[in-house]
Amino acid sequence: MIKYIEETADYLKQKGFDSPQIGIILGTGLGQFIDEIDIKAEVSYNHIPNFPTATVEFHKGKLIYGEIEGVKVVVMQGRFHLYEGYTTQDVTYPVRVMKALGIQSLLVSNAAGAVNLNFNKGELMLIEDHINLQGGSPLAFKGVEQLGSRFTDMSDPYDKKLREEIISIADSHQVTLHRGVYASVVGPQLETKAEYRYLKIIGADAVGMSTVPEVIVANHLDLPVVAISVLTDECDPDNLKPIDINEIMAMAAKAEPDMILLFKQVIKSFSLS
Ligand code: HPA
Repeated sequence: MIKYIEETADYLKQKGFDSPQIGIILGTGLGQFIDEIDIKAEVSYNHIPNFPTATVEFHKGKLIYGEIEGVKVVVMQGRFHLYEGYTTQDVTYPVRVMKALGIQSLLVSNAAGAVNLNFNKGELMLIEDHINLQGGSPLAFKGVEQLGSRFTDMSDPYDKKLREEIISIADSHQVTLHRGVYASVVGPQLETKAEYRYLKIIGADAVGMSTVPEVIVANHLDLPVVAISVLTDECDPDNLKPIDINEIMAMAAKAEPDMILLFKQVIKSFSLS
């Protein structure tokens, strides 16, 4: 895999992806963030050597390089999901490539359902810990030890310093930022009432279909990572209405400005440090 990663990174360097400091993964419906970037280069996923091969969603996906607040960033507009048929290794390949390009931190966003009913749709949740319910690991492959420790420690997977920074930014800008546990499922079907009850019992505050594989790989690479969920729906098993994916997308777009503010300010703190 090392050879493939280097080949992909070399291609991107030739395209102008010059030593980015921060990697950013934008979740479903969270594309307005792109407007904040002074874009210097961009490549569609289907032109990038060794990137996972095409699906419908994939054709919209782009890797973008540019500056925000004077900090060099590489941004994934759209990510790969297990529910599209990709493997956990496919889904996390871009994280390995961004690390090879030189990123020192990774910021991740996603759209998620609120299992904790004290949280409202349209609000944000800082992920403090997670539960992997995807039935697989991106580290379960032959040769993984050539890229990092097989038995990767996950005792504190979300970087404490970055979390504290984001909490203090949210406080000073009066942004509601819950903190909690994110459970990852494969999807693409939404959950049953019984599944939402189960998620609550096991300690989840939010549920979504992404993020955990990328965070496991970031930890494998010793790459500090932080993640924010945009809560798009309230998962109340006793009052569950059919979920409309268009509503989820609309709610993600509505809440995105707060997420943009937090990401922008945390990036700014890199330009000052
Ligand atoms: N479940 C799983 N994934 C989701 C949800 C949900 O309720 N909302 C947004 N992504």
